Amino acid sequence: MISGSGIHATEDARRLAEKRLPWMVFDYIDGAAGEGLGDQLNQQAIREMRLHTRVLVDVENRSLKKSILGHDCNLPFGISPMGMCNLSAPGADAMLARLAKKHRIPHGASTAASTSLEDIAKQAEGNAWFQLYFGGDESVTDSLLNRAEAAGYEVLIFTVDVPEVGRRPRELRHGFKMPFKIGPSQFIDFALHPRWSIGSLLAGAPALANFVGVDSAFDRTRSRAGVDWDFLDRVRQRWKGKLVVKGVLHPDDALKLVSHGVDAVMVSSHGGRQLESVQPAIHALGRIRDAVGEDFPLIYDSGIRSGEDVCKAYAMGADFVMLGRPFLFAMAAGGERGLNQLSDIIAEEVSIALAQMGLTDINQLDKTVLV
Ligand SMILES: Cc1cc2nc3c(=O)[nH]c(=O)nc-3n(C[C@H](O)[C@H](O)[C@H](O)COP(=O)(O)O)c2cc1C
Repeated sequence: MISGSGIHATEDARRLAEKRLPWMVFDYIDGAAGEGLGDQLNQQAIREMRLHTRVLVDVENRSLKKSILGHDCNLPFGISPMGMCNLSAPGADAMLARLAKKHRIPHGASTAASTSLEDIAKQAEGNAWFQLYFGGDESVTDSLLNRAEAAGYEVLIFTVDVPEVGRRPRELRHGFKMPFKIGPSQFIDFALHPRWSIGSLLAGAPALANFVGVDSAFDRTRSRAGVDWDFLDRVRQRWKGKLVVKGVLHPDDALKLVSHGVDAVMVSSHGGRQLESVQPAIHALGRIRDAVGEDFPLIYDSGIRSGEDVCKAYAMGADFVMLGRPFLFAMAAGGERGLNQLSDIIAEEVSIALAQMGLTDINQLDKTVLV
């Protein structure tokens, strides 16, 4: 049984994070495109799916182990790449890297991370995957890929669903900007959340660590509208390791990616942060699985909040599942202990759900468990 800290489910972590974080930071993490309907529908569509239960099956021993792109994971979920995680708690990137190492699960190290890709690689010990954003200058991309290779990354996640950064009014209302611009309303916001403000001040304000002390700069809001299939082909030629393309929702795009030689597609709506009117990503997962066939590796994120949700994504055809915001909420709510607790809770939820479905191995999940 998991106890202490007040976290019993993702929603507890979110509620505590909302209390503890400055509004500006909570809105950056929790926010989505427009008024957030795309994000809500991601979660609702998964929640509304129903599972068959089975009885009188011996389910005493259950395995949650998964393998993806040659990586054997002890838990059936990983950590989606997220920029500026240290805003949720000082040292958050390092906490995520340690979680990845502990369970041998993939940890997406973002181009826009608040810890350098080299430091994340060191701490995750072979479990970090580097996530690439095109920054508007191919020489910067090249230098990031050189650094990722030198740091030992074997998997590259190339994110393609941000031709322009989505409009997120919640961020704008509270004046979220990187680097911070501190006007009167931010000053009040920080003063009302002293625990976060003092902790973050002592640790040093989070920055885009991959671009500190190097010639190139990175602007998270810069247009990437020029990125096209030719660019993808250059990345594919250049990167010798496994290549995952993230942010795909249309079956035709998935099929085209297969023909361009990528190793896996990550079905994701960026947690609804890019387009409010986007379809629920879980629906796209089903369509893409039908299009690419049984064997092509698909990774899924967007809207997963519980172990039952994890099971549903596998039932819809995912080969691996990742979560984003829940981990940031957990660290904001309870630091590393909160993070470990939430990860244990989600694993326990998966295990209990398997037992209810009469299954002993996460790899047994398929469409037949869906009502
Ligand atoms: C605060 C925050 C920062 C993010 N930064 C990135 C990023 O730098 N690169 C990227 O590919 N996706 C980024 N994402 C999207 C996540 O990788 C992931 O697709 C999304 O969070 C999944 O949805 P969920 O939060 O509902 O689990 C970010 C998401 C959040 C919440």
